[in-house]
Amino acid sequence: MSSRVSWLVVVAAAVVAGVVLVVCVALFFGAYVVTRPGSDVAGSETYVSNGQLIYFTGSNERGERIPFEGGPNWLYMRGGSCATCHGADGRGGAPVMMGTDVPSDIRYHHLIEEEHEEGEEHPPFTDETIKRAITLGLNPAGEPLDLTMPRWHMSNQDVEDVLEFLKTLNGEH
Ligand code: HEC
Repeated sequence: MSSRVSWLVVVAAAVVAGVVLVVCVALFFGAYVVTRPGSDVAGSETYVSNGQLIYFTGSNERGERIPFEGGPNWLYMRGGSCATCHGADGRGGAPVMMGTDVPSDIRYHHLIEEEHEEGEEHPPFTDETIKRAITLGLNPAGEPLDLTMPRWHMSNQDVEDVLEFLKTLNGEH
């Protein structure tokens, strides 16, 4: 009798182990599908806000790619985002392929400084003019920015979220 009970226990344990194994494989494969490179919002769950997601991927939290005009041709083919040109830290400063101007430092505190770039004669940016620069490509004086900077056709909410993200880029000068 007792040997029969222990035999049942062994079978039950084997079944449980089998189920656990199948679940693990399924979870692993599921995680791979969600995060695999090449998907538009790859790894979006690692970004803490919609603004940060757009800054790093060029797509918003609804999985829509932000359409744009202007910018270099390779951006249409290879894809890219603010970080591609302005850097992960927002400091810019490095020329981009086929660019006719160097991406600026777009950390918020820098944009709202009185003299934020040598030799530029426009007033400091405000929240409103930063949003306008992103969507319409105009500087605070209302003059067009260099066409290397794409004009991003995003919703008010999206551009609001990107602005909030720029406020978090607070590296030292
Ligand atoms: C292909 C490269 C490129 C990409 C991508 C890009 N920018 Fe720019 N951006 C530039 C360049 C170059 C300038 C400088 C233009 C000028 O001074 O006339 C600029 C200027 C700006 C400015 C104005 C700053 C200033 O000092 O005049 C803001 C704000 C800005 N970009 C935000 C963004 C945001 C937000 C994104 C993503 C949604 C983005 N940019 C994506 C290249 C890029």
